[in-house]
Amino acid sequence: MINISEYTPDLIIKSALTLKSGNLVAFPTETVYGLGADATNELAVSKIYSVKGRPSNHPLIVHISSANKMFNWAEKIPNYAHELANKYWPGSMTLILQRKNIAKNFVTGSQNSIGIRVPDHPVAIELLRKFESIGGLGIAAPSANRFGAVSPTTAESVQIELGEYLHNSDLIIDGGQCQVGLESTIIDCTGNQPIILRPGAVTSEMIHRTIKVDFLPVTESSILRSSGLFKSHYSPKAKVELNIFAKPGEGFIALENVPTPQGAVRLMAPRNVEQFAKEIYLALRTGDTQKLDKIVIILPNGDGIAEAIRDRMLRAAN
Ligand code: TXA
Ligand code: MG
Repeated sequence: MINISEYTPDLIIKSALTLKSGNLVAFPTETVYGLGADATNELAVSKIYSVKGRPSNHPLIVHISSANKMFNWAEKIPNYAHELANKYWPGSMTLILQRKNIAKNFVTGSQNSIGIRVPDHPVAIELLRKFESIGGLGIAAPSANRFGAVSPTTAESVQIELGEYLHNSDLIIDGGQCQVGLESTIIDCTGNQPIILRPGAVTSEMIHRTIKVDFLPVTESSILRSSGLFKSHYSPKAKVELNIFAKPGEGFIALENVPTPQGAVRLMAPRNVEQFAKEIYLALRTGDTQKLDKIVIILPNGDGIAEAIRDRMLRAAN
């Protein structure tokens, strides 16, 4: 079991060198913790897949420190993608762009596109800058969980998920609890019109406001390329059921104004949808720690981040 390292400026230097030498670093972002490797190093990237138990044809997101670095990785970037990058990076948004040669099959899952994101977290940005200063081009990082499981939003959750699979030469950086709590919005920008592949904190309404082109709906072929779009994903060990009455002994998650059914185990009572998003994954993990068989979730209504909560919980329930 590898230990968690508290954030210090020295740890960032050590982490950048760890990445450069082909080892893994789990690091905080504002969405969820990522499991990072040098995105140009095939052996390093292969370690991500084995530690996660993830099928090798599932593409990874490459993290960079600022929007202008995307030109290292992508070309023929449509105007609307530039507008989105300028408006929402750093932030909870991943753009799928036409790849350049530097983006090899081992990081794109043999797609002709590459996912790029500038995270909005001081530790992630400091790590990316340090890594770039020693010649790194980007950090490939999926969420730091086993394939199909709940994404980690704290360093402890990363350790519980992956501690037994990581090596002593790898690192877990503790940067506190993630503020957003759900994975980034993924927007396919490889065509004349964007497709939202995964809803997140950058909402469809925010995207609409920023660009003039309309979205296209998600198709079967886009689902095949994006594992987070599988019907079943983001799942705790407990069985998740939605919008039903919880029985005694079952876990229960709902906004604070929804009373707990008698005998149910309240795992979370968030004040608003933002807090719901931030804490949902931790609450699901708490349910697993308490060895609950079932967790009932009353989903929040409305658009914005509530849409992303419903998206993830529908998959967790499948
Ligand atoms: O918030 C996030 O996006 C976090 C943090 C660490 O940045 N990362 C994350 O990565 O959620 P991951 O691998 O767990 O989910 C990324 C999703 C996957 O479903 C993957 O299939 C999809 O993005 N994806 C990545 N590159 C793609 C591409 N070129 N085309 C289509 N989908 C892609
Ligand atoms: Mg994931």
